Amino acid sequence: MYSNTPLQYLNDISAWVSCVQNSKQLPGLIVNTAARMMQARASSLLLVDEDGQTLKFEITTGPKKNEIKKHELKIGQGIAGHVAKTGEPLIVKDVSKDKRWYKTISDDIAFKTKSIACSPLKISEDIIGVLQIIDRKDGQPFDDNDLNVLNVFANVCSKAINNARKVEEANRKNRELTDQIAKMHKIVGKSPGVKKAVSDGLKVADTRASVLILGESGTGKELMARMIHDQSSRKDFPLVILNCGALTESLLEDELFGHEKGAFTGASNLKKGKFELADNSTLFLDEIGEMSLNMQTRLLRVLQEGVYYRVGGSQNIKVDVRVISATNKDIEKEVENKNFREDLYYRLNVVQIKIPSLIERRTDILLLGNYFLEQFKKEQSRPDLQFSQKTLNILKTYSWPGNIRELKNAVERSVIMCDGPLISPEDLPFAVNRKDPESFREHDLKNAVIQFKKQLVIKTLESVQGNRTHAAKVLKIQRTYLSRLITDLKIQGI
Ligand SMILES: Nc1ncnc2c1ncn2[C@@H]1O[C@H](COP(=O)(O)OP(=O)(O)O)[C@@H](O)[C@H]1O
Ligand SMILES: [Mg+2]
Repeated sequence: MYSNTPLQYLNDISAWVSCVQNSKQLPGLIVNTAARMMQARASSLLLVDEDGQTLKFEITTGPKKNEIKKHELKIGQGIAGHVAKTGEPLIVKDVSKDKRWYKTISDDIAFKTKSIACSPLKISEDIIGVLQIIDRKDGQPFDDNDLNVLNVFANVCSKAINNARKVEEANRKNRELTDQIAKMHKIVGKSPGVKKAVSDGLKVADTRASVLILGESGTGKELMARMIHDQSSRKDFPLVILNCGALTESLLEDELFGHEKGAFTGASNLKKGKFELADNSTLFLDEIGEMSLNMQTRLLRVLQEGVYYRVGGSQNIKVDVRVISATNKDIEKEVENKNFREDLYYRLNVVQIKIPSLIERRTDILLLGNYFLEQFKKEQSRPDLQFSQKTLNILKTYSWPGNIRELKNAVERSVIMCDGPLISPEDLPFAVNRKDPESFREHDLKNAVIQFKKQLVIKTLESVQGNRTHAAKVLKIQRTYLSRLITDLKIQGI
């Protein structure tokens, strides 16, 4: 009967067999196709269990679908078990006359069976399961021709199962590795911006390309630079870091290029510069936007030529250095304003990675907060600490101008300051707790204005160490009015 439309079945099968990569989906497709193609009353797929000793009913077509799932056979038991053992296909025209027939299952699910055809599913020489069909719809027993068709189909299915398993295994490994890497470098974050930054970082890691990392202070630029270095083939050499913002021009020159013994007064020894120390490794130039134009020119020359001289030296120093730089400045604007050399910018900016500020990824705040909490709980041996609900609300809504660094410090402080098992808002740094925008939230305009006035007055008083005359001047109000405000707004302790 199947011979009427073999092309149709082939077409059907080829549509799913090579593209279904989910091994949960395949069994259903296999048994349904087998039953339809072979005009069988039912079809089942049995898979060899991990222990290699049992055959489990993965799926069956028809009304007994669910009942059959709890059943299993030992390898060698019943007809399917026999096929799993020998690896040879088998037809039994009348099961009642075959002593291999294991009748318990069909009795149990009340499914009367007369004839069975079974084909083994094999991956190379390994038997991974059995495909079986039960009774032709027209009442005729299965013949050898049926068995041949079932066999070919079973071979195709084995390959499909194998492929799906391989893809799943690869996906699982991939997930594991990504998790592992994320843990290793501790770049915590699930927001799209951070995921993109991490995936870009991983992509470019094992190349020579210069990377420019942009982001506000405390967003994790240095952490990103470390991740890139650690994922590159240069990882066995230490990452060399230089903060360009913290040094005067002559000190920066000395740090970058080193000096010869006697190059200047006080140069009693030869000093290697960071470029030399980073030979075969990565040099992370932090706060590159702070570099003077003069130094930018010198840096560009080294990057272009790959050679330089130590201060006071005449010997060419040749190095193989990969440069990663970072800045919290709007570097394109700096280029526009001619504070940063355009040609150097292009050299450094081969790949750009932008790390979003913490308020651009609010969804990560609690994730990071809890991550740091776990860390400091361990460090301070306070295993039972938790954030109170109010504290969590403050963490979520605060503006975090210092980004992750500020959050990390806030959590550390709260763990140290906290007395009870719950971290309360008072345990947070004053700046974080005070600016709790909660106080603005559920107020009408009048109350919101009062809250705003109160906070403005507090902030101003703090900025002038409580000097009311001075504060009144800053606020451009009379000193007497300020005193009244302080009383009315119930401001205390300043
Ligand atoms: N995504 C993150 N996951 C975990 N810790 C982070 C993350 N981003 C930053 N940190 C931590 O925050 C602090 C500041 O990060 P850092 O890389 O020095 O920022 P930047 O260089 O941008 O100023 C470091 O202690 C760093 O480990
Ligand atoms: Mg930094």
